[in-house]
Amino acid sequence: MIDLGGRSGLGIEMLLDEEALGIAFDPASVDSDEGSHSMSERTIQAIRPVLMDPNADGPPILYRMYRNMGRDDDDARKRANKARLRYDITVLRSGMLGEELLKTSGHFHPPTPGAPQLSFPEAYEVIHGKVLFLMQKVANASDIYAPAADLRITDVILAEVHAGERIVMPPNYGHVMINPTQQVIVTSDWVCSDFSSYYAPYEAHRGAAYYVLPGGDSGELKLVPNSAYGDVPECRRARPKQEMPAIGLEPDVPLFSAFHSAPAKFRYLCEPHIVGDALAVEELFDFQ
Ligand SMILES: [Fe+2]
Repeated sequence: MIDLGGRSGLGIEMLLDEEALGIAFDPASVDSDEGSHSMSERTIQAIRPVLMDPNADGPPILYRMYRNMGRDDDDARKRANKARLRYDITVLRSGMLGEELLKTSGHFHPPTPGAPQLSFPEAYEVIHGKVLFLMQKVANASDIYAPAADLRITDVILAEVHAGERIVMPPNYGHVMINPTQQVIVTSDWVCSDFSSYYAPYEAHRGAAYYVLPGGDSGELKLVPNSAYGDVPECRRARPKQEMPAIGLEPDVPLFSAFHSAPAKFRYLCEPHIVGDALAVEELFDFQ
């Protein structure tokens, strides 16, 4: 088993159990008087509505989500609670869902109260493995509530993220995580605790704007447009920039530590309008 406690910045023992698809840790080292974690899991049954083939074969449990992780440290918990941020960890299995690479269900975030044209962003880190993030944009945050037939996707980005790298989901981009490898993936993220994710547009369209399939011997991926969206923009391939001090991110500083050393820099996760263009996709990604 691999100890991810150091790499994540959490500084506790956190063992990845690839066989059991989970992380093992002493709850006493995570929970404090100010907060405690919870765990939930996603089955293949639960995500059938977003699969290219709803009857596809695949492993019964696809991923586990550990919400509100932290350290047995009331000051650190208070800091996160005051910032209205939650630190989550996701463990995602490798494998196939029929012809598709194994993926999460996909969701949008709702509009922010302070700037309703923008939805809540989210800051992720890959702690173990290599992940693809498939992001799709709506022009206005409230477009996600439009009838399914009226939903227009205005941009699609597929970003590859390696262990030790961070990536920010920009406002108004729904997102899916995909495992293109043969190993279990572990990610962490900071997200505003004021909202619940919105899954309906993905379920109404049977998934994201593209299905991602392995490409065979060439090693390239095969992207199949999802006809339920009508015409979709071409998928842009990208890598996330790592030097982004305006939004609290520096190379080689784990996400957990980055927040706790400069909490004010992460206010944009609840109030994205305060950082202006720093969350524009040209600022967040290098396009290929
Ligand atoms: Fe999200």
